[in-house]
Amino acid sequence: MVDAQIDRLEHYPKLKEKLLEHRRQKDAQLQRLETILDRLGKSRSALKDTAMSTMGAISSATTAMAGDEILKNCFATCGLANFEASAYETLIVFADAAGDVEALQPLRQSETEERAMADFIRQNLREIVLLFLTLKTQDRQASR
Ligand SMILES: [Fe+2]
Repeated sequence: MVDAQIDRLEHYPKLKEKLLEHRRQKDAQLQRLETILDRLGKSRSALKDTAMSTMGAISSATTAMAGDEILKNCFATCGLANFEASAYETLIVFADAAGDVEALQPLRQSETEERAMADFIRQNLREIVLLFLTLKTQDRQASR
């Protein structure tokens, strides 16, 4: 879903750049989680299932893409980033409670990246919406 969104973006280069950065961060986040889980000797499958079902839920929310695709994608991106930040915050509490000091820093790094993603949308939403309106009133393609 994110890849399709990134590839289709035409008029919102700043958002595109941030989403590309965040896609790279996601790969690093998964790597951090796998490192922690490997160290603990746990299976990765449950984690992947959770990640996939989340993405599925978000993408189904965006399947009904009308002319406001960019707006819905901003809502979904912000929602997903907050979801992930809360999940990382929870994992930090778990790790802390378990005395797994080694897991704290990588989890905090991932949480910070998710908060930054959500903050980016919040800080740029007005600009994106205004550009959307401008393009719309000029009868130009504004949805992506
Ligand atoms: Fe994310």
